Amino acid sequence: MTIQVSNEPDDFFSFEHDGWEEVCDGYEQYFLPLTRQSVTPLLDAARVTTDLNLLDVCTGSGLIAAAAAERGACAVGLDFSARSLDIARRNYPAIEFHEGDVQALPFDENRFDAVICGYGIIHVPDPAIALAEMKRVLKPGARLALSVWQAPAPDNGYGLVFDAINTHAEPATALPHGPDFFQFSADGKLAAALEFSGLTDIEVDPLSQTWDLDAPARFVDCMLQGTVRTRGLLLAQSEPVRRRVLTAIAAGIEPYKSAAGGYQVPMPALIGSGAK
Ligand SMILES: C[S@@+](CC[C@H](N)C(=O)[O-])C[C@H]1O[C@@H](n2cnc3c(N)ncnc32)[C@H](O)[C@@H]1O
Repeated sequence: MTIQVSNEPDDFFSFEHDGWEEVCDGYEQYFLPLTRQSVTPLLDAARVTTDLNLLDVCTGSGLIAAAAAERGACAVGLDFSARSLDIARRNYPAIEFHEGDVQALPFDENRFDAVICGYGIIHVPDPAIALAEMKRVLKPGARLALSVWQAPAPDNGYGLVFDAINTHAEPATALPHGPDFFQFSADGKLAAALEFSGLTDIEVDPLSQTWDLDAPARFVDCMLQGTVRTRGLLLAQSEPVRRRVLTAIAAGIEPYKSAAGGYQVPMPALIGSGAK
């Protein structure tokens, strides 16, 4: 198993960091109603119950840490974006949040009874190092659970976005190289990565999730205001090309129109977990 890494780790790290500082409000507004649907499956996969010490890495606005605390866990959140942590601390003042890089966790080994990483591993320059760090801070026998998006397909939202991008956009050579965003989405890849990291008792389950959107333009807002790499790819296009891509994304949502008049876009995920 080879886990892909960035060829330009420092540049990619800065690009992601600066991007999250910029889009964290948009992510909270547009993506949280979606990623909220992954929280219970993640907590269950990590066997989160009352009275355990839990670390939520790439916590963003703190949603998973807060849900763990509601189950009675002593939850700590970590993110590298100071602005995301401002939101997290405002949302959940009773929870302890740390600023830091998931590739170099500021915690002793064997400290936590559970570690969770919601849609974070797909943003780091070296996911193998991040997985090793998450494993290092787990107590023996404790579980790591993480979520990634399923691969783009004709019947899901990322399929719609990348079909529009691949059809209309130019390759964005100006963006720093990052590992394939969907490297853990292919059959067996997430389980293999967890096994490669030395975890055992591995489970990977698909999760159906739906984005409820009120208008086609909202899907474009989600991509432009709540993502880093996809947004970078779109902003790197000339104005006419970008308009063509955004028009195609907005048009592609039509099959997902519901009887009530809104749009229900499938955004399936994978929930993977394993024990140290
Ligand atoms: C897609 S958001 C996920 C937020 C939340 N966990 C959820 O499930 O909705 C990714 C988060 O990872 C953070 N992040 C990305 N790379 C990171 C790194 N190297 N170290 C720590 N946090 C990182 C970003 O700042 C962002 O808040």
